[in-house]
Amino acid sequence: MAENIYPIYDKMMTREQREALLHQRGMMVWFTGLSGSGKSTVALGVERELYDRGILCRILDGDNIRAGINNNLGFSQEDRMENIRRIAEVGRLFVHTGVVTLACFVSPTEDIRKMARDIVGAEDFKEVYVSTPLAECERRDVKGLYAKARQGMVKDFTGVSAPFEAPKNPDLSIDTSVLPLEDSVKAVVEMIMASQVVK
Ligand code: ADX
Repeated sequence: MAENIYPIYDKMMTREQREALLHQRGMMVWFTGLSGSGKSTVALGVERELYDRGILCRILDGDNIRAGINNNLGFSQEDRMENIRRIAEVGRLFVHTGVVTLACFVSPTEDIRKMARDIVGAEDFKEVYVSTPLAECERRDVKGLYAKARQGMVKDFTGVSAPFEAPKNPDLSIDTSVLPLEDSVKAVVEMIMASQVVK
C-alpha cells in the first residue's frame, strides 16, 4: 500500500529542532480507566498547571475524538481497537511535534494499550491508571450511562457488560475516590516534569 508514497521526512525539520524551539520534550501521557473515573478531570488540571509553567500540552479525549475523526466507530472490541489505533497515530504526531499529549481513553484491554504504546513508542509513553472503583464511577454517573447500561439501553458498556482489564504495571496509579483532585494533578505533573529535559 505504501509503495507509491514518497515521504519527505528526511527534508523536514527534525523532532529535536522542534523540541529545542519549544524548550520542552514531547511525550504521551496515556490515561486509562473506567468511564467517569476522572481521567479528563485530572488531565484538565494537568493541562492548566503545565500551561502556567510554560509547557505546551494537548488533551485528546474520548468524547471529543469520537464526535469527530472517529465518528464512524462504536464500542465493539474491533471498533475500540481502531479508535485507539487512530488516536495513537495522531498522538504520535503531536509527540513528535514536541507537545506533551494527554490521552484520556477508557482503552479497556492490555492488547489495546499495548498497541497504543507500540505505535507511540515505549520511550515516549507513560501510562496513568485512573483506578477509581466501579462503584464510585457508577455512583457519580456523570453522563447517566451506567444507569442506561444497567437497564440494557447501552450495550457493551465497560465495567457493566464489557470488560476492563486493570493495567499490570502502570507508571502511575490514581484513585480519585480517595485522592483529592489537586493531589492527583500534582502526581501527574511531577511525573511529566521528571521526563522533561529542557534544552
Ligand atoms: S474506548 O474503549 O474506545 O477507549 P473511549 O474512551 O473512546 O472508549 O470512549 C468512552 C466514552 O464513551 C465513555 O466515557 C462514555 O462517555 C462513552 N460511551 C458510550 N458508550 C460506551 C460503551 N458501550 N462503553 C464505554 N463507554 C461508552
